[in-house]
Amino acid sequence: QKVELELEAIEKGGFEHFMLKEIFEQPRSIADSMRGRVRAEEEHLQLGGLRDYLGQLAASERVVIVGCGTSWHAGLVAEYIFEELARIPVEVEYASEFRYRNPIIKERDVVIAISQSGETADTLAAIELAKSKGATIFGVCNVVGSSIARTAHAGAYTHAGPEIGVASTKAFTAQVTVLTLMALSAAQQKGTISNTVFRQLLAELERIPALVEKVLRDAQKVKEIAYIFTYARNFIYLGRGLNFPVALEGALKLKEISYIHAEGYPAAEMKHGPIALIDEDMPVVVIATKDSSYEKVVSNIQEIKARKGRVIAVVTEGDSHIREMVDFVIEIPNVHEMLMPLISVIPLQLLSYYIAVMRGRNVDQPRNLAKSVTVE
Ligand code: G6P
Repeated sequence: QKVELELEAIEKGGFEHFMLKEIFEQPRSIADSMRGRVRAEEEHLQLGGLRDYLGQLAASERVVIVGCGTSWHAGLVAEYIFEELARIPVEVEYASEFRYRNPIIKERDVVIAISQSGETADTLAAIELAKSKGATIFGVCNVVGSSIARTAHAGAYTHAGPEIGVASTKAFTAQVTVLTLMALSAAQQKGTISNTVFRQLLAELERIPALVEKVLRDAQKVKEIAYIFTYARNFIYLGRGLNFPVALEGALKLKEISYIHAEGYPAAEMKHGPIALIDEDMPVVVIATKDSSYEKVVSNIQEIKARKGRVIAVVTEGDSHIREMVDFVIEIPNVHEMLMPLISVIPLQLLSYYIAVMRGRNVDQPRNLAKSVTVE
């Protein structure tokens, strides 16, 4: 027993929980997911596992992304990136819904299965179904040699390293990284991206690990906010565009490990329902970075403040405008809009972690949840 405990302490590398260790590993796991694939200076981008199938991806009429949980959220981020850069229509499906719906799949369709474990039963069944109907299957898995990785025709591994915490953190950012590389490769092959934007995105991608590092240095600030909201009973998370899936992911993290009810919403949808919930007891986390929807998000914040909601805003460094309007701000560095989820999700992971710890929850093994769901 004692030996086991000591071994676990070593594995946690000085962190109190695996989840915290994995959150702090992200500068490295993101870099590892790009290693050998991206060399911005040489304008080089190559995903070895895609080589023979890149033409098919670029020529596809439609991409269907399937996954569950956090992997499904990575798929939603990828939808924005693929459509914007490669101009391919994308649908993102819960694997469990897709497989039982007699879905319409054509031979020129590409199905991308996202799975950390590579063993999620619904995701595996979804790609087996799509495969039997003639679609080309790409896998984005973390576990090498896993069932989904073996069933796919092609794919690219996320090199996040083993993820032990049940709530997924570094696997998510690795998935988003690899999916971005896939979208960029497809866009380059199709000619839907200019050389300038291509070069700019590669250069910004290489900066991501350092920027994530920077956000992590402010963990203490997030911890202080967590302390204030430890006993909140509900939370709302809002974002627009690429930050909408990040809002969903932030809410999921909080639910999973702290057991606080939380909902993620696209900020503009708030007025179609959730706004009724807002009062002085309702914390609202708003991702309000300086991007194409900034002004709109600012109005959403005003709507919440007018109803006395308590706003925690994740903003771009130096944003003094929002600081004056809200209760708390968490600053994050600026980056190209397409890559923002890799940065904006970090404070939300930390927030859920600290709240769960303060509530005395079993962060690494939350009740009722499993790391990988191999039954349907
Ligand atoms: C479970 C885990 C989640 C994970 C989901 C999908 O619900 O608790 O953290 O996101 O399965 O798992 P996968 O291995 O397919 O990414």
